[in-house]
Amino acid sequence: MAISIRNLDAALGTEVHGVDLSKPVARDDIDAIESLWRERLVVVFHGQELSDPQLIAFSRNFGELDPPGPNPYGKPFNERHPELNVISNVIEDGKPIGNLGDGEAVWHADMTYVDVPPKAAMLHALEVPPPQAGGNTHFANMFAAYETLPAELKQAAAGKVAVHDASRNSAGLLRKGYKAVTDVRETVGAHHPLVRTDPSSGRKALFLGRRPNAYVLGLRVAESEALLDALWAHATAPRFTLCHRWRVGDLLMWNNLSVLHRRDPFDPTTRRVMHRSQIKGDERVA
Ligand code: SIN
Repeated sequence: MAISIRNLDAALGTEVHGVDLSKPVARDDIDAIESLWRERLVVVFHGQELSDPQLIAFSRNFGELDPPGPNPYGKPFNERHPELNVISNVIEDGKPIGNLGDGEAVWHADMTYVDVPPKAAMLHALEVPPPQAGGNTHFANMFAAYETLPAELKQAAAGKVAVHDASRNSAGLLRKGYKAVTDVRETVGAHHPLVRTDPSSGRKALFLGRRPNAYVLGLRVAESEALLDALWAHATAPRFTLCHRWRVGDLLMWNNLSVLHRRDPFDPTTRRVMHRSQIKGDERVA
């Protein structure tokens, strides 16, 4: 059966139908999915029943897997498949089975605190809270955000480099082995330009990573805060975003260097379990 696509009514996102990701996927279909991932930035598949090895096999069609970064507990959540991450609020035997709990995960791109961040992420929903219980995931298109920046902000961002904090995850928890940041000029993490040029298309995108503890090198702290606040306010405006309401069996694949994402908090009495892979990046952000 040939795949079919439906672009979502948002600044990014497309649904792909007619493919079973638990089986080997034809090269032509992988190429089509990869093109959608480049152009629409978030690719949504529904009704996928995948074991961990099947999620790994599908992910590997797009490159080598990038294992999860350090988590607050200091050991992989998925011990049989440490190349996968577990995102969950579920506690078993007094211990969390996954990362990020039930609170908000603030806007971010994944692992931008390393020099070569992953280029893609996949998130597969195994258990989700009922509708209305929260836990939706939002994505924002950083090409559209850059292209619509007011001229003075484009000029202020041009040529600037920011530090991307490695110390906290998107739920605000301190990662094992890191000290809390008290002065953003001492933030530990990779340095990346605020504006990235996509090597395959030449298009420019904002590259913001995450807001807490970010600092624009060479500026006074107040100037850096003002510039970052203005860029973040613009980049996360609703007109650039997509809201995904999860169903069991959904698999989302996103373009990590070209979108931001955040997750709503959800009812802590419900269960949410997601398994996640990411694909190694092949570019220094420039
Ligand atoms: C993440 O930030 O990778 C998790 C998103 C989610 O839980 O929906």
